[in-house]
Amino acid sequence: MTFCNCPDLLLNKHMPKHHIKKSFSKYLPKSVRQYFENKLGHYRAISLSDQDVENCNYKEYMGGGADKWELRGTFQLDFLKARGLSPASKLLDIGCGPIRAGAHFIEYLNAGNYLGVDYNKDFINTARKIVEEKNLAGKRPAFAVIENFDFKHIAAEYDYAIAFSVLNHFYNRYNNEQRNFFFQNISKPLKKGALVYISHAAWFKESYLKNPGLRLTNRFNNDDFDITRYGWDTGKNNVYPIIELTIE
Ligand SMILES: C[S@@+](CC[C@H](N)C(=O)[O-])C[C@H]1O[C@@H](n2cnc3c(N)ncnc32)[C@H](O)[C@@H]1O
Repeated sequence: MTFCNCPDLLLNKHMPKHHIKKSFSKYLPKSVRQYFENKLGHYRAISLSDQDVENCNYKEYMGGGADKWELRGTFQLDFLKARGLSPASKLLDIGCGPIRAGAHFIEYLNAGNYLGVDYNKDFINTARKIVEEKNLAGKRPAFAVIENFDFKHIAAEYDYAIAFSVLNHFYNRYNNEQRNFFFQNISKPLKKGALVYISHAAWFKESYLKNPGLRLTNRFNNDDFDITRYGWDTGKNNVYPIIELTIE
């Protein structure tokens, strides 16, 4: 399994490689294996056992790993608060993973105001376990496994959406389709005037915005919000630009 095209994914010797579903792939020629891995999407292929969840092994799949877990989660909440998120806001966390930021969002928001979606069902199951562990069930967070950014079953009631380190992991033609799905579908679960934040967006071009109800309204970098306070090294980070889209 090749992770090196994934800039925010920690590549270290502690990564629990055996948790990745390899099945028969190791017997395939590299080109064939890469074709299937790319088709599958590398985060989709990660599986977590109960033991992995208990040992917090899932943290090693995210940039910064366990060391920076809290800081990188806190950053996302602080950033959205600086952009006007309040406890009364309804937030859609796209590619929420094992709620590194989601746990902070859930704690901050009023009950019923958080929805986390991801295509990896083990991450979603882990998120649910974390909610129990942190006694956050009273906040009634919702979670869903979704494919192809298909938001059609989600009511159009969200004021904010964040896709943090999600759309940057696509590096072939098939996966670029995922970006197109994202921009085609993103208006569906959002209210008019809602704000969407996409990090690690150096790849972004306005030509993605074919949907007329979607407008690029801001582009943030380290001068706007200093990420070195959250454990990133400015010289090396690729979190910025973070783009803001507004639903019209
Ligand atoms: C680097 S992790 C970031 C997780 C979370 N946003 C955070 O900051 O902790 C990327 C996440 O996006 C999810 N993801 C990637 N592509 C996706 C897609 N096409 N649909 C849904 N989730 C996706 C992955 O499963 C993973 O949980």
